[in-house]
Amino acid sequence: MSLLIINIGCLVQAEDDPRRVIPGKQMAHLNTIENAFLLLKDGIITDFGKMPDPDRTKTISPEEPGEIIDASGRFVFPSFCDPHTHLVFAGSREKEFTGRIKGLTYEDIAREGGGILNSAKLLHETAEDDLFDQSVRRIDEIISQGTGAVEIKSGYGLNTEDELKMLRVIRRIRESSPVEVRATFLGAHAIPEAFRSDRNKYVEVVINEMIPIVASEDLADYIDVFCDRGFFSIDETERILMAGLKYGMIPKIHANELGFSGGVQTGVKYNALSVDHLERTGEKEIEALIGSETIPTLLPGSAFFLGLPYPPARKMIDSGLPVALASDYNPGSSPSGNMKLIMSLGCLKLKMLPEEVVNAVTINSACAMGLSETHGSIARGKVANVFITKEMPSLSYFPYAYGSNLIDKVILRGKIIIPATP
Ligand code: NIG
Ligand code: FE
Repeated sequence: MSLLIINIGCLVQAEDDPRRVIPGKQMAHLNTIENAFLLLKDGIITDFGKMPDPDRTKTISPEEPGEIIDASGRFVFPSFCDPHTHLVFAGSREKEFTGRIKGLTYEDIAREGGGILNSAKLLHETAEDDLFDQSVRRIDEIISQGTGAVEIKSGYGLNTEDELKMLRVIRRIRESSPVEVRATFLGAHAIPEAFRSDRNKYVEVVINEMIPIVASEDLADYIDVFCDRGFFSIDETERILMAGLKYGMIPKIHANELGFSGGVQTGVKYNALSVDHLERTGEKEIEALIGSETIPTLLPGSAFFLGLPYPPARKMIDSGLPVALASDYNPGSSPSGNMKLIMSLGCLKLKMLPEEVVNAVTINSACAMGLSETHGSIARGKVANVFITKEMPSLSYFPYAYGSNLIDKVILRGKIIIPATP
């Protein structure tokens, strides 16, 4: 089945020679084609280019009639890749939100047994089917907001049974949703209450009990540790990463959100696919990242929501690093998976240019979740995940109009998902 989109005002992120990642200064450049067509066949991008003369439109796809969409001058983007979320969770945490308004910090709340432990309690009390239903609602929401690939972490289980429950829900989403899903095991997200007086015992459970079962059921692509002040130390992080690596789980870690934890350097040392957060990043962290394959992945939604300092994206880009952006969708520090809003925060708070944020939520974010060969740009042979915008005057208008829904049609694996057909 083919789908031909004609009269595209601007085809964004179109590549004849697909790249793995876009670093440094190159991030300010975006490949676009004005007055373009895009041809999708059997879920794959097969061709694109300048629109031919009106009487020759048929020559674009001579053999099959298929479906034709007239984009009438609007923009077509590759779907967003969101390489860091915790969107499988139970309930919500707006009580903590109110607590923070009254002056408590995220760390105060965690110390008092709220935060991640609160979500773990809610998740424990929620049946797997209910957890799946709640999570699918979030998936449907992010699809409508333009996301076509998403990484999802466990980490609200904090015991073997509940971690497996989360990872099985992630697998069910992966099997049933048109979105591309990657799963990350994050058993080391917090020390559960019962292990507070013997944290090493919990680390042992993660290493000797959880990781082998997760691996035997093939439930995780990646392994994550919350390597930060008040959470997991460098030594604990290294032990857990090594245990995961033995089973082929590639590291992708939380680092330097709350302190200069050494997490960035540890991630690089273990060849992590990405190090994420990085609100506390100085020269040493940037130096460690230069020359490595590890992608700094910034989460401006959580810095915004928690009132943290923003990571120094400009310094990173000016030092030649590639930067990816992600939503961090979770109930405590970023209860939104809206990547368009993340783009606006990237511009306003991280001082990234509109072109840079587009690169950061497409190719670079695909790379940060191991998907740049198949997702993240308009290239022949890549998965046909795109969206068509509403009418807008320029590319910059997209992150500028930060509260407007500018997405008109969503196409995933070559099928029109939004508007839904009866
Ligand atoms: O990425 N920082 C650690 N984990 C999540 C927050 C989890 C939560 O508060 O529920 C994050 O911000
Ligand atoms: Fe996170």
